[in-house]
Amino acid sequence: MPKHLLSTKDLSLQDIYAILDEAIALKNATDIDNSLKDKIVTTIFFENSTRTLSSFEIAVKRLGGKVVRLDISKSSTLKGESMADTAANINAMKPNAIIIRHSEAGAGNYLARYVTCPIINGGDGAHAHPTQALLDAMTMKLHFGDLSGKKIAIVGDIINSRVATSGIDLFRRLGMTVFLVAPPHFQSLFNEEENLKKCESLEEILDCVDAIMSLRTQNERHNYQIFGSLKDYAQKFCITKDLIGNRNIIVLHPGPVHRNIDIDDEMLKDERSKVLSQVSNGVFIRMAILKRFVG
Ligand code: CP
Repeated sequence: MPKHLLSTKDLSLQDIYAILDEAIALKNATDIDNSLKDKIVTTIFFENSTRTLSSFEIAVKRLGGKVVRLDISKSSTLKGESMADTAANINAMKPNAIIIRHSEAGAGNYLARYVTCPIINGGDGAHAHPTQALLDAMTMKLHFGDLSGKKIAIVGDIINSRVATSGIDLFRRLGMTVFLVAPPHFQSLFNEEENLKKCESLEEILDCVDAIMSLRTQNERHNYQIFGSLKDYAQKFCITKDLIGNRNIIVLHPGPVHRNIDIDDEMLKDERSKVLSQVSNGVFIRMAILKRFVG
């Protein structure tokens, strides 16, 4: 196991299967697990979060550990302290791990040079969101069993999405084929390969995929408005119940969902929507990661 978890690429296939199996075992467990007793984990989120921050903090507490959250709005960052100095000072207090989120790609890799404890990446710019990819894989594994041979379409603002980047790597290593469905201005720069295909319309993939992951348009990462309007975008790329019909497709989204832009209300209510299951599974994936990197 590597010291830090900065990207899915830090994990071997064996690590990935071990984390998925551990997370599923934790979900099914009835006994209390105190693997993080006497451990302190610090969360430093320079960028907003609902799911990742809360689920990491719940995961630490479910494992009997303690959390210290650095509230960036009250930290000395606003007095001009650099990110590296912030991390070095927190590290000097000897936490057992630091979980970080930042709007800049590579923030976790940069900070790893200034600390002695493990760093776990809770999302950095458009670069990586490894724990999200793992919880997405767990959600699909619980539904399908073996993921090998399954097909997933990732739909939307792919080029600006760290969820897409991490998912593309992880899902393909688990034997899945990934379709990237987006208008040209949102399409990935990855080259097509045997298990990575690009297309411009949902109609091209609807009859061959097992899962669709919709993405939010990442307006905070656009330097200028690169599409007409969200309504125009939704007409072509919103995952509606009418569009899915009676197909046996599960629908995922990392959140936050732009309702009726990314996925419509009716599809979100449908039992094929796994959006809240993803959130629940995120706690168990983060528990499994904390046990391996901290416990
Ligand atoms: N999926 C995800 O990263 O959500 P948050 O931004 O709320 O953490």
